[in-house]
Amino acid sequence: MTNDLSDRTILLTGGTSGFGRVAAVDLAKRGATVAVVGRDESKGATLVERSSDLAGTIAFHQADLASQSTVRSLATTVKREYDQIDVLAHNAGLSAGSRRESLDGIEITLAVNHLGPYLLTYELLDHLRDAPDPRVVITASDIHRRATLDLDDLQLTDGYDSLEAYARSKLANIAFTVELDDRLPDDSAVTVNCVHPGFVPSTELFREASLPTRLLVRIAGLIPGVATSKQAAAERLQTLLVDPRYGSVSGQYVGKDGPADPASEATNQAVRQRLWEMSAELVGITSDWPAPSTT
Ligand SMILES: NC(=O)c1ccc[n+]([C@@H]2O[C@H](COP(=O)([O-])OP(=O)(O)OC[C@H]3O[C@@H](n4cnc5c(N)ncnc54)[C@H](OP(=O)(O)O)[C@@H]3O)[C@@H](O)[C@H]2O)c1
Repeated sequence: MTNDLSDRTILLTGGTSGFGRVAAVDLAKRGATVAVVGRDESKGATLVERSSDLAGTIAFHQADLASQSTVRSLATTVKREYDQIDVLAHNAGLSAGSRRESLDGIEITLAVNHLGPYLLTYELLDHLRDAPDPRVVITASDIHRRATLDLDDLQLTDGYDSLEAYARSKLANIAFTVELDDRLPDDSAVTVNCVHPGFVPSTELFREASLPTRLLVRIAGLIPGVATSKQAAAERLQTLLVDPRYGSVSGQYVGKDGPADPASEATNQAVRQRLWEMSAELVGITSDWPAPSTT
């Protein structure tokens, strides 16, 4: 792993808590400029303060990724404030306690975990292309294996189950990774991969879960060999963000031991193409992207 990251600018969503926060600090220790996105201003301010004596810098950008207009404003700010973005890391995620919709009228888990990354990538892809080793990385999860992408009811209007909604959004993350990789022009230097960080019960991901679920998570975390620490998960994420080994790897789902086969639905061409088109419609953009590179 490269130690000096002083020439790297990393846009990291979900860097205000959990293992994303650990990764943000580690990256800044190695000299990187880390632009952290989150909702919570006070957590952002604490993080910026924490980075004052580190080799690199952490900047905080307050944005609720459930809102499409906020995602667009965030992209405008990023393009204005950073000449170059080397890595676009979609790590923000939530597991909702019950079914609710975003201001745009979209089921919240799909909105934050899948459509946020989809739209932000669309908005920033050209900016990313200028970097020497441009990467898009998405934090997925092995829990995707329990889900199906019911494209006739993507937003679970019928028989909502919060775990199914979460697992489905993570399946969508992988399908998006594979489809974007397929669509990137052959001469594009941009790589796109997703990572399973492990089961990390010490984060705030389960904050909305019912008491029995939170207890179950707590107990499962005590079983030897089951839980991954925030530090280990952060290191797994960082490997995809900056390790030279992943500079030319693309379209992969990466677990503890490297690239792994995801559930077959994630790689099914018809499924991922339809998801792509539906996602474009839900965020109000053309599905005909990425545009061919001009260089
Ligand atoms: N924990 C696990 O076992 C596990 C396993 C597999 C995958 N993952 C994935 O890992 C990623 C990080 O999760 P974590 O476990 O570290 O959970 P966490 O502690 O809850 O962190 C989630 C992060 O996402 C941000 N976020 C949530 N909703 C957002 C929104 N609407 N707009 C902007 N930012 C938002 C949060 O920021 P604010 O609090 O500032 O809003 C926070 O920084 C997620 O994608 C999750 O799905 C976790």
